[in-house]
Amino acid sequence: MRVGPIVVDPPVVLAPMAAVTDLPFRTVAEEHGVGFTITEFLSAHALMVGDKKAQGKMTASLGGRKFGVQIFGREEEPMAIAARMAVAIGASLVDINMGCPAKRVVAGECGSALMREPEIAQRLVRAVVAAVPPEVPVSVKHRAGWDATHKNAPEFACALVEAGARMITVHGRTRTQGFSGSSDHEIIRLVREAVPAHVPVIGNGDVVDVAGFQRMRDATGCDAVMIGRGAMGNPWLFARIAAVAAGRPDPGPPTIEERRDVFRRHVALIGELKSGPRVLHEVRKACAWYARGLYGCNRLRIEVWAAPGVEAAVATTEAYFTELLARRSRLGLAPEADRAEMDGAAVEDAA
Ligand SMILES: Cc1cc2nc3c(=O)[nH]c(=O)nc-3n(C[C@H](O)[C@H](O)[C@H](O)COP(=O)(O)O)c2cc1C
Repeated sequence: MRVGPIVVDPPVVLAPMAAVTDLPFRTVAEEHGVGFTITEFLSAHALMVGDKKAQGKMTASLGGRKFGVQIFGREEEPMAIAARMAVAIGASLVDINMGCPAKRVVAGECGSALMREPEIAQRLVRAVVAAVPPEVPVSVKHRAGWDATHKNAPEFACALVEAGARMITVHGRTRTQGFSGSSDHEIIRLVREAVPAHVPVIGNGDVVDVAGFQRMRDATGCDAVMIGRGAMGNPWLFARIAAVAAGRPDPGPPTIEERRDVFRRHVALIGELKSGPRVLHEVRKACAWYARGLYGCNRLRIEVWAAPGVEAAVATTEAYFTELLARRSRLGLAPEADRAEMDGAAVEDAA
């Protein structure tokens, strides 16, 4: 898939996720072959007034890899300024969030609230397009619509394209659905059908495996697929999709050693790239992520969350993987947790 000068190959994109798709995780995803990454959404107003937290999250991919910055807002001037700031740090694409369902965002009439005001949405796109050089495409990510009776994604996407958007991502849920129900393939198909063929449409929602990627492409005709939650602790999904998309066999799920190595890599990246009080939280999250679904993962999770510091959390996780490898060679057992344990992890995740 191509958007302006950016080639997205394989046609799979890491979804922007607040407090998740930071630079360490984007790097891990890139190292596993994802086609493109975008920062989490950043308030244009916060960027404009020099908010250090927002600016700290606007990070360029490592190694000169192309990346996008996602911004949100409702006023043209801050959006234009934020877009220029994104270009100044090397962004190859500026994405505008018009899909966030969060109350605090919608209350400010940003995010998915803009789906009810297409003229304002168009004005924002025009302002951002005018602010960036022509080689930097401006894209929009939005939902199916506001609610079940206002699924206006096809008309909305066309209005945005008319205003200058060069790529559209659709999460096939409405704002009122939040994350309940399922992502509607049909509305994504209708957007693909409505938008001019030269404008890529990315399908998003509920893809967690290679079969889901294929289903999304087949059912919607989308040009690429965006994956969020399914990639958390599972960057191998990108490598598997890359292989299948290139006509090679699916390399299958990771071994215990591969999980341990990527856990180490992720923690090392956190150490290199982050500082401050959130480091321990980020490390604990990475420890739990790469053990998910494995035997004893719930116990590890509890121990890691009780660990007093980064070193203790890492040492606990290292010991866990060592124990798991010994168990495998002793018993010849597959590393997967039994069903009850997996369900327990799911309940904890939802909490
Ligand atoms: C924790 C979390 C944070 C998110 N933050 C953003 C965000 O900053 N910008 C955005 O456009 N969407 C955000 N989303 C929505 C995702 O990008 C994606 O549209 C949604 O999760 C559906 O895709 P999935 O089923 O592959 O996760 C977020 C989702 C989650 C779970």
